[in-house]
Amino acid sequence: MHFTRRTILGAAVAAACVAVTTAAAPAYAQKPLVIGFSQVGAESEWRTANTASVKDAAKKAGVTLKFADAQQRQENQVKAIRSFIAQRVDIIAFSPVVESGWDTVLREAKAAKIPVILTDRSVNVSDPTLFVSLIGSDFVEEGRKAGRWLVEYAKKSPAATLNIVELQGTVGSAPAIDRKAGFEEIIKGNPKLKVVRTQTGDFTRAKGKEVMEAFLKAQGKSINVLYAHNDDMAIGAIQAIEEAGLKPGKDIIIISIDGVKGAFEAMIAGKLNVTVECSPLLGPQLMEAAAAVKAGKAIPKRIVVNEGVFPAEVAAKEFPNRKY
Ligand code: AHR
Repeated sequence: MHFTRRTILGAAVAAACVAVTTAAAPAYAQKPLVIGFSQVGAESEWRTANTASVKDAAKKAGVTLKFADAQQRQENQVKAIRSFIAQRVDIIAFSPVVESGWDTVLREAKAAKIPVILTDRSVNVSDPTLFVSLIGSDFVEEGRKAGRWLVEYAKKSPAATLNIVELQGTVGSAPAIDRKAGFEEIIKGNPKLKVVRTQTGDFTRAKGKEVMEAFLKAQGKSINVLYAHNDDMAIGAIQAIEEAGLKPGKDIIIISIDGVKGAFEAMIAGKLNVTVECSPLLGPQLMEAAAAVKAGKAIPKRIVVNEGVFPAEVAAKEFPNRKY
């Protein structure tokens, strides 16, 4: 099964936005909305597309965007959020590098009466009112989709056992935790599927390659499947597999997540078997939600993006439709 189009659940956001953009205040009286946005970093093709989406949507919506790149460090995000509070921005938005450790700074934002919108990744906080909404994918479901694809593949494979190696995303991040959980939920109890090694590759190509090299050294030719929590790590791992004299996509079946153009190119070249879509194009929803919140309207606590699964067989046909 695959889909090509995203739909946004939480149409209330869009409806609210229409009301906001057609508000009666005269143009000279409308101050531009100011959003402080703390981005995780630039660790992947996905992240680059996400940053472009947010910046582009802000420009189109006439929003003043204060953008801070945290270089994958939580302390940089905390500093950025404190600086946004000091600057009295209208809305703080951020994509948290890890799930925990946000209570204090989010309480500071709440005390300053600055609403917080999460994009892409979630946080673990004791008080759910510390943020207004989370706009992003269902990472557990993405892991399940990867697992379901593998279960179907395993049914057709003559092998008695399929040894799986897993490249996890950043330790403590929502996508790494959830994609692991969703995948395990589906494959557990299947006697043919066995995870033999699992380690973080921090969502980067370089780390994906390095860890795959270590997996190959430790396991030799016994690896049948690679499950990578994102396309970049899978692409890095493909290099390691080729350098080890093996054929990625054939000797080792590769499943990854994101659906970036690089993954489609790898599928067309026969080196990647399937990618589960995770859309980074969250900018427009963020601008709509922020405008609604600023106007005092209620928005859904969770805004989920519907996404598909793209196996290698449809890659060439779908490639021209890809936006990231
Ligand atoms: O949070 C989304 C994940 O972060 C993407 O899957 C990955 O590529 C990125 O770095």
